[in-house]
Amino acid sequence: MAARPTPHLLHPLRLGAFELPNNLFAAPMAGVTDRPFRVLCKRLGAGYAVSEMVTSQRALWATLKTSRRADHAGEPAPIAVQIAGTDPAEMADAARYNIDRGAQIIDINMGCPAKKVCTRWAGSALMQDEPLALAIVEAVVAACTPRGVPVTLKMRSGWCAAERNALRIARAAEGAGVALLTVHGRTREQGYGGVAEYDTVAAVKAALRIPVVANGDIDTPAKARAVLLATGADAVMIGRAAQGRPWVFGEIAHFLAHGTLRAPPLTRDVQRWLLEHLHDHHALYGEAGGLRSARKHIGWAVRALPGGEAFRAVMNGIDDAAAQRRAVQAYFDALAERHPRLPQAAAANDEPGAATHDPHAIAIAA
Ligand SMILES: Cc1cc2nc3c(=O)[nH]c(=O)nc-3n(C[C@H](O)[C@H](O)[C@H](O)COP(=O)(O)O)c2cc1C
Repeated sequence: MAARPTPHLLHPLRLGAFELPNNLFAAPMAGVTDRPFRVLCKRLGAGYAVSEMVTSQRALWATLKTSRRADHAGEPAPIAVQIAGTDPAEMADAARYNIDRGAQIIDINMGCPAKKVCTRWAGSALMQDEPLALAIVEAVVAACTPRGVPVTLKMRSGWCAAERNALRIARAAEGAGVALLTVHGRTREQGYGGVAEYDTVAAVKAALRIPVVANGDIDTPAKARAVLLATGADAVMIGRAAQGRPWVFGEIAHFLAHGTLRAPPLTRDVQRWLLEHLHDHHALYGEAGGLRSARKHIGWAVRALPGGEAFRAVMNGIDDAAAQRRAVQAYFDALAERHPRLPQAAAANDEPGAATHDPHAIAIAA
């Protein structure tokens, strides 16, 4: 039996002057969601994608790493740039700087638990200092509003289990002019451990008028639907589940619209997407640097595939970008001979009852 279609859960979303084509968002991930990856996610079904965070420290703006993060050439609008920092004036400067370089939406990072960010009292550590958090939001909104650029905010559910203060900060942020808010249902204390909860997301959604985005552990179409239903959120944001599977957005869209799981992608399509991604990646980072940073994307793409682990080991020993692309081409040539559609890992069957396999649609229990 097919699940009940829920097309009302899939819809365009207005953000400032932009009409996002749908409400399936790619999460910002440092070292992952660079421009080539964001472009790919948008091509394969994401309605929106946020850049890796850019520091608010002026001294670092000219570095190669930061300027690559601010490279948006060819990315479909809107260009959303996330900034992270601890000082309101610096954050306002960073917002203006990025707007001058093409940012059309500025996202404030209040969600990253990384030491490098948190020891400088930025990222999710800011949630522990509500007055400072609000001062940053106000300064960034004041910098962006005259330019017509919406400000969004990404936060966790709170600082620790005893202090889930997302709702208080969310209300204040809405009052200060934030246009959209994302809540990752984990506390700062949890890092990426434990499981995400969605009650806080639901509470924030119920209290706010601006769009609220649910994030955390959404890794299958069924989970996306369940979270949208449980929270009433306007959108879902997907991070790790898109690593190596950027077509997950299209799969979710199909499931919401039809109530069935889409057939796995053609192996030849996956090969083409990955090779195009590698070309873009090598072009952005240069052949030497790009060769190394591309390995993780290739590793994610093949990790659950037949012979994927062995291929990954071989591929990690290749030290030439053209040879890396040839190896990927050959691996998928061989795979496509045996599997016209991408073989599915057991974990991809996400619900009890999902095991029935029809080449065009996999019906799952409602
Ligand atoms: C490798 C990696 C890098 C991340 N970098 C950022 C970042 O720069 N800014 C941010 O707000 N969140 C960052 N996050 C958090 C994600 O945006 C997201 O909130 C988190 O992974 C939970 O979503 P998921 O379960 O769908 O992955 C990062 C997560 C990962 C795994």
